[in-house]
Amino acid sequence: MAQIIDGKMISTMIKDECKERVAAYKEQGKEICLAVIQVGNDPASSVYVNNKKKACAYIGIESLSYELEEETTQDELLKLIEELNGRKDVNGILVQLPVPGHIDENAIIRAIDPKKDVDGFHPQSVGALCIGQPGFVSCTPAGIIELLKRSNVDICGKNCVVIGRSNIVGKPMALLMLRENATVTVAHSKTQDLREICKRADILIVAIGKPKFIDASYVKEGAVVIDVGIHRNENNKLCGDVDFESVSKVASAITPVPGGVGPMTIAMLMKNCVDSVLLQ
Ligand code: GUN
Repeated sequence: MAQIIDGKMISTMIKDECKERVAAYKEQGKEICLAVIQVGNDPASSVYVNNKKKACAYIGIESLSYELEEETTQDELLKLIEELNGRKDVNGILVQLPVPGHIDENAIIRAIDPKKDVDGFHPQSVGALCIGQPGFVSCTPAGIIELLKRSNVDICGKNCVVIGRSNIVGKPMALLMLRENATVTVAHSKTQDLREICKRADILIVAIGKPKFIDASYVKEGAVVIDVGIHRNENNKLCGDVDFESVSKVASAITPVPGGVGPMTIAMLMKNCVDSVLLQ
């Protein structure tokens, strides 16, 4: 049976480290403030946004909440971002995605000052990651690196297969694993012989978006398996992209869903907010 990588515990450790750093900044008279913008009221986004605000409160970061109506124009949103970019008391700016269809998501991402881009989505942040310069890193892949390191998983020289090539997870994940000196393969929906490629992985990171898609037949004996997916099955139970029951019998370590990668995203957002002070 595989070791269970406990994302809930590790995320709490990271949040507590952030809390201590925030307290130390407060003693120097420095407050940290995150502006959180949601356009429309998509229920899933509301849950995420509320969890982010709760994490801020736990850590001692001030959060400014902007709940804009669905009909907000792109220009109105850009004006707000510009105002927040200029405010010295605002350290981080987060626009919850997706934004309504009439707003160009890329234009919004580009408008955020890279020094306040705590999501790590700005092209400058992504470019900095690509060439090994300082900048914010997308929270979910950064959280996966923390999960691996804090579970003493050796990354250097290992074969890592990332399934999925999204801008938020797959691509930055591949760059981070490369930075850690893994040999990285990125698989995606057009990949041929996916099973054979996955079977070569010492570390398999799955962000495929299909419930329980990866079963034991894709996994090498002793591999470390990281499951980024989150789905609700017909019984309203949460599951990931990995069939935990079968894969946990062959893997040496595995993240559960829930309680694996999920809690790490917000913990790393908090870390990015605290780190923002160093960049500003
Ligand atoms: N929507 C889904 N995940 C994220 C995230 O990490 N950040 C933002 N801003 N929106 C999201």
